[in-house]
Amino acid sequence: MNTFSTDWLSLREGVDHRSRNPALQQQVLSYLEQVGSVKNDPIHIIDLGSGTGSNLRALAPLIQHSQNWTLVDYDPLLLMAAREKLCAWADSVSDGAPHGHLDSNATRPVTLVKNNHEINVIFLQKDLAGDLQSVLSKPADLITAAAFFDLVAVGWLEQFCRALKTPLYTVLTYNGQETWLPVDPWDSKILEAFHHHQGSDKGFGSAAGPLALTTLEQLLRKEGFKVVTGSSPWVLGPNDSLLIQELAAGTAKAAAETTLVSNAIAQQWGESRAQSPKCEIGHDDLFARY
Ligand SMILES: C[S@@+](CC[C@H](N)C(=O)[O-])C[C@H]1O[C@@H](n2cnc3c(N)ncnc32)[C@H](O)[C@@H]1O
Repeated sequence: MNTFSTDWLSLREGVDHRSRNPALQQQVLSYLEQVGSVKNDPIHIIDLGSGTGSNLRALAPLIQHSQNWTLVDYDPLLLMAAREKLCAWADSVSDGAPHGHLDSNATRPVTLVKNNHEINVIFLQKDLAGDLQSVLSKPADLITAAAFFDLVAVGWLEQFCRALKTPLYTVLTYNGQETWLPVDPWDSKILEAFHHHQGSDKGFGSAAGPLALTTLEQLLRKEGFKVVTGSSPWVLGPNDSLLIQELAAGTAKAAAETTLVSNAIAQQWGESRAQSPKCEIGHDDLFARY
């Protein structure tokens, strides 16, 4: 299983939230407002590859309606951490679950209150590579995902788009564009190797990586969805030095694993890039509806 650490997800959460494309997000909120205006029940959102619930924490406070969220991930530890973090984040938690305590029932549903709106959350452990249909067949008003679609294969995207019957809002899909300052002669070689690594199997077959969003967009249009996209780059500066360090180390490690660059070159690049004062990492957001 391709695992993501809670530390890494926590480190990126603030940058992820500020990088989301605001115009696109506004269109999603207008759509949800329409849904809410004709619905007495809570709005239901299913988040794919939810990790520790960052996408909920970004979007839920902006929705002026009660909500049901289903957080789907195959990693039980991330789902446990999601429940814990959400309980700490909420203004109040109706079942009074103790903070800082992960018990064997640590992914039971929870009702939170945030900004005077009730948010019911259920946690669903599911491998989306194998069982997509049962998730997509649940009634929902919106399917969401953050930093997820670049992990999947083109074949999976085809299957996903054929089965999708619900509006989709996906944010922060990596698009392959990177600029690091100051310029380093090894930048393009390292990026080429990193993209090669991005295409490796992340559990769904060869990953679409930087091509995921354009592929998703084309497939959704073919299925009759109206699609809008917007860029959501990470623009990182001196206040993001920890994230820059982790990113440089992770990129260098991935590049070296491909053997397209030597260990020594990758290591040297990673060490110098860890000190980089500024970099921009390209991502895109997408909203699709009928
Ligand atoms: C880059 S993380 C993003 C997490 C979260 N959406 C966020 O923005 O912080 C990708 C997430 O996808 C999940 N994931 C990867 N492969 C999966 C699969 N086959 N089924 C379900 N979840 C998967 C990982 O466990 C991880 O939580």
